[in-house]
Order: sequence, then structure tokens, then C-alpha cells
Amino acid sequence: MIGRTNGQPVSITGLGVHVPERVLTNDDLSKLVDTNDEWILERTGISERRIAAEDEALTDICLPAARRALEMAGADPKSIDLLIVATVTPDMAFPSSSALLADTLGMPDAAAYDLSAGCTGFVYAIAQAQTMLASGLSKRALVVGGDVLSKILDWTDRSTLVLFGDGAGAVVMERVDAGGFLGFELGADGGGGANLWLPGSGSRKFDDPTKYVKMNGREVFKFATRVMVSSAEAILDECDKSVDDVDVYVPHQANVRIIDHAARKLGFPQEKTIVNVNKYGNTSSGSIPLALADAADDGRLKPGKLVLLTGMGAGLTWGSALIEWTHETTGAAA
Ligand code: UT7
Repeated sequence: MIGRTNGQPVSITGLGVHVPERVLTNDDLSKLVDTNDEWILERTGISERRIAAEDEALTDICLPAARRALEMAGADPKSIDLLIVATVTPDMAFPSSSALLADTLGMPDAAAYDLSAGCTGFVYAIAQAQTMLASGLSKRALVVGGDVLSKILDWTDRSTLVLFGDGAGAVVMERVDAGGFLGFELGADGGGGANLWLPGSGSRKFDDPTKYVKMNGREVFKFATRVMVSSAEAILDECDKSVDDVDVYVPHQANVRIIDHAARKLGFPQEKTIVNVNKYGNTSSGSIPLALADAADDGRLKPGKLVLLTGMGAGLTWGSALIEWTHETTGAAA
């Protein structure tokens, strides 16, 4: 799916992020599985990640992020009529994490549902919210992207354990006079789905009853390097923009080698490319808002900047969004 937005302009008016307190370094992991700091750093660019506490679930880490985004937007929770939580690690299959979050935040008028599109979930969710806002169906939306992948990792499997971390981000979206979202490109290839999957997590029966993330890293790597480039090129072309027009490039934070490859192929210099995978690992749906928050805090993300977001992940899925940033969003960390 690809297209420019139409109808009333819609933008991000508030941004909030949150990560769990506990830091797990590469050296910590080397005490659990046969790995080492040098391998992880060289192959992924990751130094450390945040890990949720035993009793912390998805909504616990989404809540501070959501509150911060609402505060930044100056939005009364009661005024939110749409809440989408993008995640593959909800508190439970049902009730949805979004319904639980809407209740905790005090949003009696909100339509609330979870959205599953792997690490691309946040990009899918902002596309949905944008169309509902532009059409007038929604007046003010809260979109949350977050995951606690530590809960579904096999803590004896070095090939997945070292890659992921926990984190969440939230944005308030509403209609504005000008600027905001210009277009989206979204895609999915279920044929490649078995390269990154969670067997036993749904209604299909599997012989192995363990519910852990399984991944064919090399295949996902090949997929990622392809779609991170093709999706970005497609949305730029659709919106009649070039790489030179883009001020801030926010790629999904999975692996610094994937980011470097995409940035090089597309022609983004280092100073335009946001990288924070070193300190958070791959936080799935939390990755793009966490990167946006860092970009805002280091002064690179300002009103008037053209921002390109590109995600990819389980499904397999991918997606890009092009946005003319309209609001000041520094101080997004709770
Ligand atoms: O949002 C999407 C989520 N997933 C991804 O983005 C994953 C994409 N894939 C990747 O990022 C990379 O494929 C990995 C980082 C997962 C792996 O890097 P690689 O360069 O493709 O390594 P590899 O799988 O080819 O493994 C190379 C070697 C193997 O040993 P041998 O067979 O050469 O002796 C692995 O057994 O590294 C070994 N290895 C490790 N060694 C130390 C695999 N994992 C580890 C580890 N520590 N954690």
C-alpha cells in the first residue's frame, strides 16, 4: 500500500518514551550464554539493553510514555477518542493492552485496539490513526508502540537473546493547519514469516510447546537490507521528495549494520541518521519513537524538519512514513 495523505493535515503534537530501569550489558549476557561483548558489538552495534522487571508487563512501560506524550501535547486524556497500541507482547491476548491502558489513563470515549505488525507496528499504527483523523472520524489519537520482548525470548539462545530489549514510546496525533504526515508505504510478506516467529502463541498447534522467538537471522538480515532501502525510496518517490530534502532519517533500530547499509545505499550522511540501538537493542515497536525522542533531545528534530521513518520486522512487514515535523518535542523521556 502506498499513497500520499489527503484531507486535513495531521501531525504529532506530543511524544513520550519510557524504558525499564534495569540495564543488561553484553558482559552480563556473556555470563548467561556463550557470547561476548566483542561479537555482539561488531555484529550488531549493541552495547546494552533495558529489561523489564519480573512483574512489569507491556502496559506498565507504556503508561509513563503515554502520560508524557499527553502532557507534552497539553491533551486531557478524556479528549482522546482513539488509542492504538502496536505490539507483539501485549499483557495478554485479551483484553487488549489498549483497552487496559485507556481505562488506566481515563479515556472513556476512546476506541481502543492492539495492532500486530512486528517491529513495523508503530508505522502501521500512525498510518491508521492519520487516516481516521484526516477523515474526521477521530478528533485526537494516542498511538503507542512498545514491546517487552525479554518475556518471549529463549534465555538460553544466544542467536536471539543478544539482539532485543524492552521499551515503549507514544505520540499524540491531531489535526493541524499545515505540515504533518505527507504519505505512507506499508507492506507485508507472510511467505517470509517463518524467518521470525513465535510458535505456540496462538491457535495453531505445534509439537514443541515452548513459546519463544525463533529467527533465521541471516534471512531476516537479507530481507531488512532490501526493504529498508526499497520502502524509503518508494515513499520519497510517491511524495516527490529526494533524499536531500530529508533532514532526519529514523530507521528501525535492529542492527547498526542494517542501518549503515540502508543509510549508505540511500545516501544519508551520518549526521542525518538516528542511531540508538547501542543503548537499547531492538525494542521492536518501541524502536522508532525511542529514536525520535533521542533525535529531539539532541537538537536534530525540530519543527519544519522533514523526517523519514522506516521500519521492518516480523510478518515479515515493512513500512515508511514521511512527516513535516510541526511541534517542539524535546523532553520526551519520562
Ligand atoms: O526487527 C527484526 C529483528 N531481527 C533482525 O533484525 C535480525 C537480522 N539479522 C541480524 O542482525 C544478523 O543476522 C545477526 C546479528 C542475528 C547474526 O549476525 P551474522 O553476521 O548474520 O552472524 P551469523 O548468524 O552468520 O553467525 C556467525 C557466527 C556463527 O558461528 P559459525 O557458524 O560461523 O561458527 C554463529 O553460531 O556467529 C555465531 N553466533 C554467535 N557468536 C557469539 C551467533 N550468535 C552469536 C552470539 N555470540 N550471540
